[in-house]
Amino acid sequence: MSFRTITDDRPLRLVIVGAGQMGRTWVEAVAGSRLAEVAGVVDLDEGAARAAAPPGAAAGASLGEVARRSAADAVVDVTAPAAHLPVTLEALELGLPVLGEKPLAATLPEAVKLVRAAEQAGELFVVSQNRRFHPGLWRLKREVAALGEVGLLTHQFFKAPHFGGFREAMAHPLVVDMAIHNFDAARFLLDADPVAVYCEEFNPSWSWYAGSAATTAVFEMSGGSRFVYTGSWCSPGLETSWNSDWRVSAAGGTATWDGIGEPQVEALRPRAVATAEDYPGDDLRGSLAVFVEALRTGVEPMNECHDNLRSLAMVHAAIASAETGSRVRVDEVLAAAEG
Ligand SMILES: NC(=O)c1ccc[n+]([C@@H]2O[C@H](COP(=O)([O-])OP(=O)(O)OC[C@H]3O[C@@H](n4cnc5c(N)ncnc54)[C@H](O)[C@@H]3O)[C@@H](O)[C@H]2O)c1
Repeated sequence: MSFRTITDDRPLRLVIVGAGQMGRTWVEAVAGSRLAEVAGVVDLDEGAARAAAPPGAAAGASLGEVARRSAADAVVDVTAPAAHLPVTLEALELGLPVLGEKPLAATLPEAVKLVRAAEQAGELFVVSQNRRFHPGLWRLKREVAALGEVGLLTHQFFKAPHFGGFREAMAHPLVVDMAIHNFDAARFLLDADPVAVYCEEFNPSWSWYAGSAATTAVFEMSGGSRFVYTGSWCSPGLETSWNSDWRVSAAGGTATWDGIGEPQVEALRPRAVATAEDYPGDDLRGSLAVFVEALRTGVEPMNECHDNLRSLAMVHAAIASAETGSRVRVDEVLAAAEG
């Protein structure tokens, strides 16, 4: 999709909306960057916005007012998922590009609405999937590409966090709030899109979450590989890293990654592994760099909203499968959301 560019050679003036835990992390990340600066902070709780705003930045409860007062170039939407629709819609209507925290929106129809709104506004809307920006994952991707056709990617995520707040009240906390990262990273790693899924979601008896905190899903991916995801958010003991444990079984050998260090590889024969591509930086810095580069150049970035819709569709196809007990095609779930 083509979108308006901002070619001035100066740091972008960003308004961060949502001054919760992740919003404050974004304020720090932007403040530490040469690509952008925090021009304003917005939250329903005006006190929280003021407390999070760096000296000299505007703060308030109204995005329109803070954006005008701070001469904003773009918005970072770090509100709770239920607010992604109204906040990103308002930003696009104000004529501002948006870098939104995952998930794109709380539901797939809402996500489709935002993608259409970005098209209509002619503004860039990118979803920040910061867990793509890990040097180990980029290395694993190069190693896997050199192993030939992939048969199976298995992915295990086991953690036991006590968050409190919205996650403990959600119906599908693991799949909606966390597995979106892993599903998106699997698409990135395999350079493949989801075709269909069979999923079982459940809540272990000792879980402190109201909704399903444990899940196993088997995805058929384009090209014929299978991505098998198993995760739990109430799994104390021998926890995995936040980036999970990965194993890729390919025609030419196997690669594993613990989500922290360097991948391990056993190949059948010597092969050429590509040298490092332009790595945009770790975590939020990578997300921000990709967003700013796209605004400068007009080149569609990874995780542009049309692309990210396919990662979110994996989440909602998995939920539909768990609810119906049947294998679900991802294109049918997307078509239903498009109405
Ligand atoms: N990428 C990651 O690693 C990561 C980690 C944590 C959270 N997140 C994402 O970041 C987002 C925020 O999560 P959090 O943990 O900071 O939540 P949080 O509940 O701590 O903060 C959300 C903030 O948004 C504000 N808010 C809600 N609706 C608003 C609206 N309409 N206008 C302005 N402000 C509004 C709330 O007042 C609150 O301060 C979520 O989408 C979450 O999934 C991402």
